[in-house]
Amino acid sequence: MPARKKITIVGAGMVGASAAHWAASKELGDVCLVDIVEGMPQGKGLDLREASPVEGFDSDVVGSNDYADTAGSDVVIITAGLPRKPGMSRDDLVAKNTEIVKSVTEQVAYYSPEAVLIVVSNPLDAMVYVAHQASGFPAHRVVGMAGVLDSARFRTFIADELDVSVEDVTAFVLGGHGDSMVPLPRFSSVAGIPITELLSREKIEELVDRTRKGGGEIVGLLKTGSAFFAPSAAAVQMTESVLKDKKRILPCAAYCDKEYNVGGYFVGVPAKLGAGGVKQVIEFNLTEEEREQLEGSVQGVRELVQTISM
Ligand code: NAI
Ligand code: 2OP
Repeated sequence: MPARKKITIVGAGMVGASAAHWAASKELGDVCLVDIVEGMPQGKGLDLREASPVEGFDSDVVGSNDYADTAGSDVVIITAGLPRKPGMSRDDLVAKNTEIVKSVTEQVAYYSPEAVLIVVSNPLDAMVYVAHQASGFPAHRVVGMAGVLDSARFRTFIADELDVSVEDVTAFVLGGHGDSMVPLPRFSSVAGIPITELLSREKIEELVDRTRKGGGEIVGLLKTGSAFFAPSAAAVQMTESVLKDKKRILPCAAYCDKEYNVGGYFVGVPAKLGAGGVKQVIEFNLTEEEREQLEGSVQGVRELVQTISM
């Protein structure tokens, strides 16, 4: 019998611990939860493990401060990092999280040289770049989570507006994970019917705007942190597609060179995710307006990445 798959989650904070919860309860594999804080990942890991008899899952969950325990992981989800605090500029956050993501990536890459890395830490598009550089992995084995989350937010708002099941709503959001992200109403549909047939232009604009500001809406409500249930569910959906070689087409921060004229950066595009990571970036024709919006968003990513020194 083959051993179960192994998933390492670095950063046992809100997103990391919730990702462990989703992954273990779906029995995607055994989970190793790592953090720099002593005792905390061990405590969360044990607590989750003790939920397994109640919930009926056989995934093992361990917490650790030692990267040797992550050895042989198939997927590593990186959520380690600081959130932006008052008085901290975006550049301060980039510098600090670059340091953290670089250091954790080097360690997981050493112990799991064949893993697929799924980066969650912010600023997302820049941190995927850092993980790619620090790991030395081929670009297809490094991918960022943002589009699944942003699309899920858009899907939720569309379903609420039309009073239909979220299961029948698909949506696509491209570009960087910031306020300049590009939700695509033309490719968002309810049971295959484009939402442009079902909602007014004004209403769609309203939902698009809410999607762009979706992260901020949650921060405004929580006040002490940012979203974690939906982000962790999104990272685990990507993990599942990789581990089960599902070849799902999901919006992910994938490496694009000639694709969409990006020129060698990680940005949100539709990608086929399966065993070994990104199997293909799917290109399709955009309207003039969509292309301009995507180019603006990609330019923001290029400028941010150019501020990074590693
Ligand atoms: P959190 O503060 O609850 O957890 C972060 C964890 O990272 C903490 O437990 C901390 O101890 C740990 N950590 C810090 N430095 C470390 C190191 N060197 N090694 C190992 N662990 C280390 O934050 P939360 O809410 O879990 O968010 C995590 C990151 O994910 C943040 O950067 C956040 O902005 C980002 N995020 C990204 C989203 C996306 O769509 N890409 C969505 C939601 C959050
Ligand atoms: C979000 O979109 C904070 O990036 C995070 O919720």
